[in-house]
Parts: sequence; structure tokens; C-alpha cells
Amino acid sequence: MARTISLVIAHLALASAKTVRSPTPPMGWNSYNTWSCSPSEDKIKQSTEGLIALGLDKVGYNFVTVDCGWPSRDRDAEGRLQWNATLFPAGGKALGDFIHGLGLDYGLYSGAGYLQCGSTDLPASLGFEKLDAESFAEWGGDSLKYDNCYSTSKTTMVDSSSAESQSPARFQHMAAELEAVDREIQYYVCQWGIGTDVGTWASEIGTSWRISNDIYNAWRSIWRITNQVVPYFRHTKPGAFADMDMLIVGLNALSTEEERFHFGMWAINKSPLIIGAALDPNRLSRTSLEIISNKEIIAINQDSLAKQAQLVRRYTEEEWDVWIGELSGSRKVLGVANWKNNSQTVDVDLKSLGIASANTRDVWAAKDLGSISGAQKLNLAGHELRIWLLSDIVASAPLSSTTYYSATNASMSGSARVTSCPSGKCLPIGFKAGNIIEGASVTFANVSAKSSGKKLVGVDFVNYDYAFTTAWEFGDNVRNITVAVNGGKAKRWAFPLSGGNWDESGRLVIEADGFTQGMNNVVTFGAVGNAFAPDLVGFEVLE
Ligand SMILES: *[C@@H]1O[C@H](CO)[C@@H](O)[C@H](O)[C@H]1NC(C)=O
Ligand SMILES: *[C@@H]1O[C@H](CO)[C@@H](O)[C@H](O)[C@H]1NC(C)=O
Ligand SMILES: *[C@@H]1O[C@H](CO)[C@@H](O)[C@H](O)[C@H]1NC(C)=O
Ligand SMILES: *[C@@H]1O[C@H](CO)[C@@H](O)[C@H](O)[C@H]1NC(C)=O
Ligand SMILES: *[C@@H]1O[C@H](CO)[C@@H](O)[C@H](O)[C@H]1NC(C)=O
Repeated sequence: MARTISLVIAHLALASAKTVRSPTPPMGWNSYNTWSCSPSEDKIKQSTEGLIALGLDKVGYNFVTVDCGWPSRDRDAEGRLQWNATLFPAGGKALGDFIHGLGLDYGLYSGAGYLQCGSTDLPASLGFEKLDAESFAEWGGDSLKYDNCYSTSKTTMVDSSSAESQSPARFQHMAAELEAVDREIQYYVCQWGIGTDVGTWASEIGTSWRISNDIYNAWRSIWRITNQVVPYFRHTKPGAFADMDMLIVGLNALSTEEERFHFGMWAINKSPLIIGAALDPNRLSRTSLEIISNKEIIAINQDSLAKQAQLVRRYTEEEWDVWIGELSGSRKVLGVANWKNNSQTVDVDLKSLGIASANTRDVWAAKDLGSISGAQKLNLAGHELRIWLLSDIVASAPLSSTTYYSATNASMSGSARVTSCPSGKCLPIGFKAGNIIEGASVTFANVSAKSSGKKLVGVDFVNYDYAFTTAWEFGDNVRNITVAVNGGKAKRWAFPLSGGNWDESGRLVIEADGFTQGMNNVVTFGAVGNAFAPDLVGFEVLE
């Protein structure tokens, strides 16, 4: 049985409502990535037995979810959902008994719309929330993945733009009905991260909530979803996790290095770890199995602090990132991501990350590196995510700045304009420069630097241009911006999403070259080609 805790939920209609949550990210298997919306009793049983045979239960994977495609077309005379008897001859209750009999939890699936995803006629739960929640409890369900297809009509499967499709109300309704049944059922919200402030409302009702359109079985999904999860660190905590979607490890889409990158990136961001490959010992490769079974990576994901890692440095033209996440025991996880499909050597200065020294373990290599300090050279393979576990950390003085350069004080050219934001938004100044597109620029004069050369620059920005309809092509959630110092070469930076709407700012620390000592530096921000840059709040030079 899953380790569960109860958290008091403040914003539900029911008085003294409680819901069951997993304190750490859910881990399990789901039928969708292998079987799409065509599950069957045999297929589910095979992966349930495979999960045990492969020892995955021993490392924490403890539930099996039957995704879309399980119900019969027709509800019964009382309106209750029925299992398709051809596909599931023994029925849903018996399947749950089988899964429970092997010591695992039973995951169910429905949706907050008229019909299920991937079908034209299979019922979902809109309008039947109470009855369906009762059925889920009767069948012995331990979790419910609740999707968002056919939210506005029986003919449009995916509506992501209407207010109704984006509304929390249908999801809150099912949350309340799950609260009311006499069984502890975890709730996995699958609203796809559309609309605004999804982390705010979804973290109040669900153990997890999907932040994006589906993962696509290709490397490019990893960049897209990673750029989308960045701002959700504000909402991730014990019992509430941003869901980056089910894993594509073992689905023959990624190289071994890429499978490690994908699994590691999901792990440090505290995403649920939900295997999508069929758990057939004859089909799953040894290397993929070793990746999803890596106990040390899993321990980072399951750390009791439940803090999502944050993107702390990005080098876009060089194609690498630095991530840091806090762990229990005053430890940290450091992730260095090579987005380039070639090996490269990168320099990571621990001191600039606030770390004077730390005892370090290379987690994928399973190698202790001893106590390290200062500048580190890392030789990264193409598409490698190096993961270091840092303990016995001695902190160094954080970088600081003397002046904040606010967009309100910059000079605008072309279409760029400063607008004011609602109170408490666009932190830290309450304004942002927007409409930065081809030919526009935002220039800050009289920027001071204590010395000449390269500087870390903390840029406060707003980007909520999330990729949904473009997700299966090359939509990637980033907006490009260029930075030029003293008329030097304009360098490009890909900024991820910053928050939950167009007024919630985020910070990205980048490195810009060409400063001269003194107070007369000129820093210019611009767009790349005919595409909008992120909105710009301001920046500071960190020295
Ligand atoms: C059950 O599933 C089978 C296979 O997909 C399908 O042919 C059949 O129509 C379904 N039956 C009902 C009652 O939905
Ligand atoms: C990365 O490089 C390898 C080896 O050259 C190649 O097979 C693979 O297709 C590349 N992957 C991507 C996503 O470009
Ligand atoms: C710069 O911007 C800040 C914040 O908007 C403002 O308070 C300050 O007066 C401005 N300074 C100058 C020199 O314009
Ligand atoms: C920069 O500073 C100089 C003197 O320190 C001042 O004359 C000038 O107006 C300032 N320029 C801008 C754009 O603020
Ligand atoms: C950002 O710039 C790169 C390089 O010019 C380009 O390939 C990419 O499509 C741009 N992305 C966006 C979202 O504009």
C-alpha cells in the first residue's frame, strides 16, 4: 500500500475536508504509453506481474493504472459506469483484487468531460461525478487520473482555449466527490496545464497535476516539458507534485544517455515517476530497467523535503543548464544538463552558486568524488545530465548587487512599451517592458560594474507563452531574448516559463561579457527574428 498522509485542504467546499496524498512523488506504471487507449485485462495483468518480476516494487513503484479505453460504451440502468466485458472479462473489481493481491495499488482513470480521451463514444465523468466516485471506491481504486478531453462538447476532443476547458471547477467537483466516498483515493489532476495559475488551484486538490500537453515519444519533448516545469517549484511540496507526464524510458525513442537525462530531469524536479513501457521482461532492455531502478536517483526524487530543483544558470548558445535542488539533511542535488547532442566541457563555479565546498558524489557514475570546491570542469557526453549529490556543504557568501535596473528606467525603441502590472505582480518593480519583437529594444544606460569582463546577470522576466497546440511539433515554451553589452555581439538566451500567468515574474541568471569597470555600461535587450521576446522587468549585475 502506498505511504499516505492526510493534508487538510483549505479551499474545498466541504467543511473539514481531508484528502489522501502521497508525501513523495507517486511511482508506478500506467498503460497509456504502450497501449494507448486500448488496454485489456491481459495487458494490465502482464505488466502488473512484470513489475514484480523485474523487482520494481522493491525500489518504490507501487501502483498500476489502467488508462483510457476501459469502459463500456453504455452506463447501466442506474447510470453507473461499466467495464468493457470483452476487454476485461473479470471486471474492474476483480482486476483491482488481482493488483492488490500482488501488494500494489490500483489506479483508475476518467475525465472531467463528456467522453474519454482517444474515443468517440466512451463515457467520462462530467455530470456523473458522485456516482462515478462511488464506483471507483467500490472497485477498490487507490488513485484516479482525471483527464480533460471533451470538456465542452461531445464532438471536440481537445479544447484548450475556451474558458470552460481551462476552468478548475470540473476538477474541483470530482475532488469533492472523492472526499465524500468511504475510501482513500489519491487524485491525479490531468488538466494539461492550460489556462492560468494551474499550480495554485491544482496543488490544493491533487497529489499531482499535469503541467503540459502529453509527452511525445521523442527527445524534443524533454526540452519542451522541462521549460514548462520551471516555475512550478513554487507549488511543489510534500503531497503536491507537478507532473511532467509518464516516462518514455524503454520505448525505443531515446538513446541510453537520453533515457538517463529524461529520468534524472523528472527525478530532480520531483515529478511523479510513472513507467510507460510495458513491463515485459522479454521486451524491456536491461539498460532501461537499470535506469528506472537506480536507487540513488529514486532517493533524490523521493526525498522527504519534496522540493523541486530550480534552474539556476542557463547558457543557451552553448546549450547547457545548471539546476540545484534542496534535499533533506542540508544536502543539495546539482544537475548539469548538456542539451547539445555532442560532448562538451563546461565550467561550473561552485562558489558562484553559493557553495564554498561540498562532499560530492556523482550519482549516475556511483562514484564518490570527495570534497570539492571552486571551479569545476565537467566533460559531458551529448545529451548527458550529470547529477551530483552534495553533502557537508560549506556555504560561500552569495553574490550581490548594488543597484537594481528597472525597465521603467530603460529607453525603449521600436514596439517595446512599459506597462504596469496588478499590485504585487511583476516583482520586484510592478512594471514590465513588453512587445519586444523584431526591431525593438530595451536599453539600460549607466550600468555599473566593479571590474571589466564577464558578469552574471540576474534577469527578471515574464513568459507565459506555453506550448499546447504546438506541443507535438516543436513548441518548446521558451522565448528568445538577446543581450548585448556596450554594443558588443548580441547573444541569445532561451527563457523558460516564469510563472502561472502573464504577471508572475521569474528570474534567470545568465552570463554576459563585455562589461567595463565603472558606471557607464550600456546593456541592450532585443528580440530574435520575428518572434516575441519575454517581457522584461529588470535586472541586476551579480558580483
Ligand atoms: C468493447 O471493446 C471492444 C474492443 O475495443 C469493442 O469492439 C466493443 O464494441 C466494446 N464494447 C462495448 C460495449 O463498449
Ligand atoms: C544525436 O546524435 C546521434 C548520433 O549522432 C543521432 O543518432 C541522434 O539522432 C541525434 N539525436 C537528435 C535528437 O538529434
Ligand atoms: C528607476 O526606477 C525605479 C523603480 O521604478 C524608480 O523608483 C526610480 O525613481 C527610477 N530611477 C530613475 C533614475 O529614473
Ligand atoms: C548617465 O549618467 C550621467 C552622469 O553620471 C548623466 O549625465 C546621464 O544623464 C545618465 N544617462 C542616463 C541615460 O541616465
Ligand atoms: C530561438 O532562436 C533559435 C535560434 O535562432 C531558433 O532556432 C528558435 O526557433 C527560436 N525559438 C523561438 C521560440 O523563437
